[in-house]
Amino acid sequence: MNMYKSNPKDWKKFAKFDPHRYTRNLVDEGNGKFNLMILCWNTAQASSIHDHANSHCFLKVIEGHLNEELFDWPENEEIHLMEPIKKSRLDLNEVGYMSDELGIHRIENPSHTDNAVSLHLYCPPFDECQTFDQFTGHKRSAEVTFWSKFGKRTPFGKEQSKKK
Ligand code: SIN
Repeated sequence: MNMYKSNPKDWKKFAKFDPHRYTRNLVDEGNGKFNLMILCWNTAQASSIHDHANSHCFLKVIEGHLNEELFDWPENEEIHLMEPIKKSRLDLNEVGYMSDELGIHRIENPSHTDNAVSLHLYCPPFDECQTFDQFTGHKRSAEVTFWSKFGKRTPFGKEQSKKK
């Protein structure tokens, strides 16, 4: 990931944007050992605060830049505001790493004028994670989905989205 220098010709066909939320676009399933994907962030789009289901997450910015907010795991069920313990910025061609051991995080394209695109490798792959409400610390399970797979739009509907 560090050695690769972003060239849009390599990844443009996987980069699909949605006006309403960031998109996850599957590039390669790594023979079931990892998922390689391209995430497309329209202006001001952000993920929820989420964990990584015991997976290792490597990410590289291949267009624009992204902000990451790191949070500690909530210690108990009591309602509380989750405050970030660290904020960092990832610029073009920079690589980041995240895992449940480091905490939980939120990724955002802070730009109000420019899109951002990132390359993510999750090892092992996972299809469910936990998302957290910043204002209460409450969590829930969420299915992770793909907007497209191998360059083709994923059909709508729960069952359909699992098919290739
Ligand atoms: C995601 O995979 O949907 C969010 C980005 C990340 O965890 O790095």
